[in-house]
Amino acid sequence: MKDEGNNVYSVFDEIISREEKESFLKQKSCVVWMTGLSGSGKTTLAKHLENQLLRKGGFSKLLDGDNIRTGLNSDLGFAEADRTENIRRIAEVSKLFVDCGIICVNSFVSPTREIREHAKKIIGDSDFIEVFINTPIEECEQRDVKGLYAKARAGQIKNFTGISAPFEVPEHPHIEIKTTGKTIEESGSELYEKLLPYIKLPS
Ligand code: ADX
Repeated sequence: MKDEGNNVYSVFDEIISREEKESFLKQKSCVVWMTGLSGSGKTTLAKHLENQLLRKGGFSKLLDGDNIRTGLNSDLGFAEADRTENIRRIAEVSKLFVDCGIICVNSFVSPTREIREHAKKIIGDSDFIEVFINTPIEECEQRDVKGLYAKARAGQIKNFTGISAPFEVPEHPHIEIKTTGKTIEESGSELYEKLLPYIKLPS
């Protein structure tokens, strides 16, 4: 124990730095921020990415609507102010993961440039990797995996991104994946390869 006046904490209680944790995990942490329309394939590709990372020794955490909007953000809807708060909290949580040396893979519509800029500001420029999952709305609507586009067209869901609420295409994403005509495997491998320079996994 240190004996410095009232300081009774041992040196072992000092917070371990991000660098030490990154070096323990043998990786560089960051936030992989995946944006795109509902049904564009964000979460499917995020899961694929997590699997590929793990096989190569990369340690990650996937955040998406399923685990965030049912828990931490269950009080939020889809009006603009709620989406902004949704993304703000997600960005703060992501920052904690990054500080822990973990690659945080985020799959959120995050529909406007302003919202994504806000997330980038919280997380920090150098830790924010914007990935645009580019699937045209026609295709998302045709797939309609969750049946939400049909409901939005029928007026049963308000403020639905791409139908009755805007989606602003990212202007300069670090990575863009055009999914049309590609299998999940193909798009997944493309994403992984393009991400590698940012995360420095052990060779
Ligand atoms: S965000 O706009 O705040 O970033 P988020 O990614 O958390 O959205 O949630 C989007 C998911 O919620 C969609 O994939 C869809 O399944 C569902 N959802 C329900 N209502 C809406 C809506 N009005 N607009 C967009 N997605 C919605």
